[in-house]
Amino acid sequence: MRVLGIESSCDETGIAVYDEQQGLLSHALYSQVKLHADYGGVVPELASRDHVRKIVPLIREALAKADTTIEQLDGIAYTKGPGLIGALLVGACVGRSLAFAWDKPAVGVHHMEGHLLAPMLEADAPEFPFIALLVSGGHSMLVDVKGIGQYEVLGESIDDAAGEAFDKTAKLMGLDYPGGPRLSKLAANGREVNYKFPRPMTDRPGLDFSFSGLKTFAANTIAAQPDDEQTRADIARAFEEAVVDTLMIKCRRALEQTGYKRLVIAGGVSANQRLQAQLGEMMQKRGGRVYYPRGEFCTDNGAMIAYAGLQRLKAGEREDLAVKGQPRWPL
Ligand code: KG4
Ligand code: ZN
Repeated sequence: MRVLGIESSCDETGIAVYDEQQGLLSHALYSQVKLHADYGGVVPELASRDHVRKIVPLIREALAKADTTIEQLDGIAYTKGPGLIGALLVGACVGRSLAFAWDKPAVGVHHMEGHLLAPMLEADAPEFPFIALLVSGGHSMLVDVKGIGQYEVLGESIDDAAGEAFDKTAKLMGLDYPGGPRLSKLAANGREVNYKFPRPMTDRPGLDFSFSGLKTFAANTIAAQPDDEQTRADIARAFEEAVVDTLMIKCRRALEQTGYKRLVIAGGVSANQRLQAQLGEMMQKRGGRVYYPRGEFCTDNGAMIAYAGLQRLKAGEREDLAVKGQPRWPL
């Protein structure tokens, strides 16, 4: 089975061709980061319009790179939600229409299921069951993954997502959008200064997260300190350590609760080096392993949607002829 995957839920147009036997045949990505940079965040209407401009050329590119003809495709998968409705509808319209025109089955994929299964694109993919820590710009959650489609959300953020906290704190520090990776780069030059950032919601049982307090703490710390490069780097480091520590504590709890030895991290924040290193160390101590996608598949991409879509199509799932997007959609 060979599937064309389409991702357009936010500010990245991602297209890929995944083959059940041969694996990932191609992927193409267009990031709108530059378009939104002047506004300090994603402008939904601009995002939709840019997806419209880029999606068809990218589909052509991915099919050509995969040396795949339309006849060789067995289905089309597109992100149906959650995300920005206008952006989602571009992918859904194009995906559903092409499937109709080419007489192929179509399937709508949950964006977070895409992230969750992204490590499956790697050669040493994790076996089920595992705990997945999904940390992106829109979501933070811990999921007990027993198999494809067997997901139990154990905890999630009650306010800001982890990536959102990174982005908002970065903005406070005067860093350009998207701030997460920039803040992390700044933190690498930070010294160990005792700013006593809290580890939110770790002093009580449960697996939910809360990150908005960390952002406020960062704002107050920034206001109280001199505005020089080294101080900003020190604060960035303290903030990053607090986020990573908090995520680590919750992951440990989820592993203890389930007895699992495998931990998957996915979503944009999983690209964070400190997070990867600390969770790797923790899992080694526990006699387990941490799995994460290669850098380019940590953030939004078409490959994860093609992979998840193939699994869903194999299970017999099909979209009807209506074009649907679901901005809010529980996993
Ligand atoms: O998964 P993703 O590409 O899009 C969503 O589905 O939201 O995640 C984007 C988020 C942004 O908030 C971005 O700042 C964050 O991931 N991010 C990072 C890093 N790379 C991306 N946060 C911290 N450290 C990084 N290295
Ligand atoms: Zn995402």
